[in-house]
Amino acid sequence: MKKHILIVPGDGIGQEVTAVGKQVLDRIAEKFNHEFTYDEALIGHVAIEATGDPLPEETLVKMRASDAILFGAVGHPKYDNDPSAKVRPEQGLLKMRKELGLYANLRPIKLFDELLEASSIKADILRGADILFFRELTGDVYFGKRERLEDGNTAYDTMIYHKYEVERIARKAFEAARTRSKKLMSVDKANVLESSRLWREVIQKLAPEYPDVEVEHQFIDAAAMLLIKDPRRFDVVVTGNLFGDILTDEASQIAGSMGMLASASVGDSTGVYEPIHGSAHDITGKGVANPLASVLSAALMLDISFGLKAESEAIIAAVDGVLKDGFRTRDIADTTTDASKILGTDAMGAELLKRL
Ligand code: NAD
Ligand code: IPM
Ligand code: MN
Repeated sequence: MKKHILIVPGDGIGQEVTAVGKQVLDRIAEKFNHEFTYDEALIGHVAIEATGDPLPEETLVKMRASDAILFGAVGHPKYDNDPSAKVRPEQGLLKMRKELGLYANLRPIKLFDELLEASSIKADILRGADILFFRELTGDVYFGKRERLEDGNTAYDTMIYHKYEVERIARKAFEAARTRSKKLMSVDKANVLESSRLWREVIQKLAPEYPDVEVEHQFIDAAAMLLIKDPRRFDVVVTGNLFGDILTDEASQIAGSMGMLASASVGDSTGVYEPIHGSAHDITGKGVANPLASVLSAALMLDISFGLKAESEAIIAAVDGVLKDGFRTRDIADTTTDASKILGTDAMGAELLKRL
């Protein structure tokens, strides 16, 4: 198979982990006789530095011309600590999602058995947890009207959803539920928010079309509690952009670390495969970032965008193999980890390649 992949590392550890993700794609191409060609493009802080724009037109053109995109992360402390900055790295990410019509963000919470002890949640509560989040990605308060009033002392952001936006993400989640345990949880705040009441209404109206799927509604506050109390109660979850953002960072603790969570952003055109974590400037340049979220994002790309199931499973098996052999990055090490098996980003990548 011939495919053209755009690598968009972005900022901070995005650069470090995406390099490993690309090496793994390369090895897969070699092993399974595919021809992957690559290009690279700028986004975020590095793009602002080079061009003044967090998503330069050149990047967007390259994105549209590629078969899939491996994305790293955007962000820089300079902006995090300067609320007045008008041009910000995160604008590049949001514009990319909107421009490419990436309305569905799939965030699988895959718990590798070997990492049961890496989580701060008790192993007995965690064992067997397997969740697939559908986070809506191009609507909500992220893309509503926002303003700082002239006096400077008042600001608002509008939480807005259209029926068609809820419907299309819900359909994807219903379809996925059919292939799993036939249970779908929808998370909203319909006891307070009008946009959530619309959300719930749309889900309720769709449900009869999927009579084999059992639908449960939860409020976001209760869902956040239940996720820690009883993660196995969750299977397929569908929720809005903001609630999904927060809930999946929480859910990363089920998998052991932010450094383990991959995602697929799909919709109208080219799919973007991205770790859920950010640019992590607290560890940037130290060579300790966990590259597995990027590697598992590459696995999602092969499966979802290219239909290469065996190739995708080979990557997951390699990750499993590395963990079974006791290798860990710092974020997923625990008190029982042999110090000589705590690896940096590149060494972890090298162990993976050995198993591919
Ligand atoms: P973050 O995800 O960057 O980091 C949160 C914590 O998790 C940090 O302690 C970090 O060291 C750790 N961590 C994250 N990824 C890791 C990995 N692969 N290996 C080991 N440890 C890892 O979130 P933050 O600190 O809230 O945000 C930092 C910047 O990243 C901000 O500018 C934010 O806007 C941006 N951000 C971008 C994305 C994205 O591009 N998709 C996502 C989240 C945050
Ligand atoms: C993510 C990030 C982004 C989001 C930020 C950086 C805009 O947290 O990809 O989860 O909130 O969607
Ligand atoms: Mn996030």
